[in-house]
Amino acid sequence: MIVNTELEQKGNLFPSKFVSFKKDVDTLYFSTDNNVVLQLTVFRDSVLRFRYTTTGTFDNDFSYAITKYASKGYNHLEIVENDEEYHIITSKLLCKIAKENLRIRIYDVKDNTLINEDEIGFHWEESYEYGGNIVKMSKTINDRESYFGLGDKPEHLNLKGKRFENWVTDSYAFGKQTDPIYKAIPFFTGLHHNKAYGIFFDNTFRTYFDFGQERRNVTSFWAQGGEMNYYFIYGPKMNDVVESYTDLTGKPHQLPPLWALGFHQCKWSYYPEANVKEITNKFRELQIPCDAIYLDIDYMDGFRCFTWNKDYFPDPKRMVKELLDDGFKTVAIIDPGIKIDHEYSVFKEALEKDYFCKRADGPYMKGKVWPGECYFPDFTKPEVRDWWSGLFKELVEDIGVQGVWNDMNEPAVMEVPNKTFPDDVRHDYDGNRCSHRKAHNVYGMQMARATYHGMKKFNYPKRPFVITRAAYSGTQRYTSTWTGDNVATWEHLSIANIQAQRMAMSGFSFAGSDIGGFAEQPQGELYTRWIQLGVFHPFCRVHSSGDHGDQEPWAFDDDVTDIVRKFIELRYQLLPYLYTAFWKLIEHGTPLLQSLVLFDQEDQQTHYRTDEFVYGNQILVCPIQEPNAKGRRMYIPRGSWYNFWTDEYVEGGKEKWVDAEIDSMPMFIKEGAIIPKFPVQQYVGEIEIEELALEVYYKLGKEVSELYDDAHDGYDYTKGRYSFRTFKLTGKANELIIQQHKEGKYEASYKTFKLNLHGLPFEIKEIQIDNEIISIENLQVNETLSMVVDKNFAEIHLIGK
Ligand code: GLC
Repeated sequence: MIVNTELEQKGNLFPSKFVSFKKDVDTLYFSTDNNVVLQLTVFRDSVLRFRYTTTGTFDNDFSYAITKYASKGYNHLEIVENDEEYHIITSKLLCKIAKENLRIRIYDVKDNTLINEDEIGFHWEESYEYGGNIVKMSKTINDRESYFGLGDKPEHLNLKGKRFENWVTDSYAFGKQTDPIYKAIPFFTGLHHNKAYGIFFDNTFRTYFDFGQERRNVTSFWAQGGEMNYYFIYGPKMNDVVESYTDLTGKPHQLPPLWALGFHQCKWSYYPEANVKEITNKFRELQIPCDAIYLDIDYMDGFRCFTWNKDYFPDPKRMVKELLDDGFKTVAIIDPGIKIDHEYSVFKEALEKDYFCKRADGPYMKGKVWPGECYFPDFTKPEVRDWWSGLFKELVEDIGVQGVWNDMNEPAVMEVPNKTFPDDVRHDYDGNRCSHRKAHNVYGMQMARATYHGMKKFNYPKRPFVITRAAYSGTQRYTSTWTGDNVATWEHLSIANIQAQRMAMSGFSFAGSDIGGFAEQPQGELYTRWIQLGVFHPFCRVHSSGDHGDQEPWAFDDDVTDIVRKFIELRYQLLPYLYTAFWKLIEHGTPLLQSLVLFDQEDQQTHYRTDEFVYGNQILVCPIQEPNAKGRRMYIPRGSWYNFWTDEYVEGGKEKWVDAEIDSMPMFIKEGAIIPKFPVQQYVGEIEIEELALEVYYKLGKEVSELYDDAHDGYDYTKGRYSFRTFKLTGKANELIIQQHKEGKYEASYKTFKLNLHGLPFEIKEIQIDNEIISIENLQVNETLSMVVDKNFAEIHLIGK
């Protein structure tokens, strides 16, 4: 361990001796004789907030990340003082604070396991360059501790032994280990002794995290300014940590419209109108489901946001309507840079109202983006956000665009060394005026937030759909996201896999990659394998720069088209399953994807796995990430599973070779699961669904599955017009029982379920539905055994011979 004197020589300062304690309801203050104050707030029994000042007073307490809806309140709070320490005891945690140096140790109160311990703990360095402090925290690494999280880092899922920086950055053609890239999510989870905790360092300055790289036994995090201000979140299950973090920083404010979970096609750029129509017509002609078509920057007049190039798109309203009649929702890009053009109304208005960002000494922040020289709205000012929201009236309400895509909002500026605003640019920061050093990481988030409010207002009573490139913690409340400008390589396919999983465990599930790769062009094989993975990502969009050829499903050969169709159809069939998972995300913060470590943290085998993941909570998938593969080895987590394609029953807890020729991909269903499936549609709402399939996978034992449904758009579901069905499966040697419980007032169009029975170990002798014996004739014997039942059954018994 490094001793203080060594660190002191490096300019570090430390809290000195404790002198006083004060309690104010749920908040405790510990002061030292060198003006350090630790403010400890008991948020919940398992969530503590630690905040430090070195001057005796705190900054205004303001955060863009923490939502006003975060749950607060605890069951138990006890404070005990002895000569050396204070003990803060809740029903979940025991937190010890040393009087000598304010160092913290946190224990599981039930079994006394040490969960997290300060090494040096809080210390700081004065920043000679900027004034203020560089605030630092160091913690001891536990035996065999693993680390996960941090948003979009294109690194191994387990962060142990690595160091990272958070500074949202436009990163064209980033690679494995490029750091930082587009997002700043300063939240990680630590896992040791089967206990997980999370730390959310809510500091928007440039932050750093070191997980034992610099010193093998120390994890540290620090920021170039602001306060040491972090939340400690106890699990002990990793899923609970992610849910609590999501509770703090917010769940998506509403469900997406179901179409947004369909397949999206994008390119830079589809224009003119005839080209857009050619693409959408081809989807319908080839019967490849698709719900959204994107307009990249060329739809605008000289890249001026909120304008149209009338040569390419003479009548956007008519076009958008015609596309919609054919099931395509139009999504349009909007960037933050506003072209300097005194004839352009958006520019003029923002100038008049003083909405553009300025340099410290007064002139406007001027930077080059697609339109040439631009000024940039200060989205950290509430009035500017309101104005921005209002700009969507024409685009959304009049023209009918149903999704907005926010790009370049890091903010990205071309042709300057740091690719963004200089540090001195001033921001309002909701009345807490500051420089770009503090506002940079939230600039894109605040833009997406303003866009979201505009979309929501002018699309009402339909639900909003927004997508953003830049993000800080909490952005998931407003928008979906994609992982930026990737490359058409096999390595990038595996990066996309890691990023989507990492985003989900960082509270931002509604994410996906540019399928096929943005830069360069994939071979048909890579494209096919990427589609196979992409249909299991919450946000599913093909996008490419268009510089290197086309990336539509028919741009390769007929075999590719057929396989791609098959997988996109699978996505559409599984929509009710994904929608149910989304409901659990907005209700409980449950991630849509679970890396194996989230699925089964107790099994050490999962701690260093990156390829396999669980989609929702019952479907295990593993992409093929190499050319010429006929299958792959993968880890099947504990429990038993059915191969989705063959119904082969496999025991987990071991590695296994799984066949997967180019038209397949390793995919398993958890035993006991009941997976809902829609019929294939070319777009959401194309047909009235008359019957919903339930794929029932027999298990000797019990398993619970769920099915959420509603009108697929609009807000009626918030007034109780949804249906939430719970299916309890109980399998015995000679019997299968399915019990259904339903809540909510929504009546779906379908009246029946078609039960497809997989893996039944006995021949059926008798069927009872709600205590009535049903003729065995009702069983259909096709590929699987199936039967049609009324959707409101309460209990089904299948009894064996
Ligand atoms: C950026 C975006 C990309 C978009 C392009 C043109 O590179 O990341 O998705 O197509 O700008 O707008």
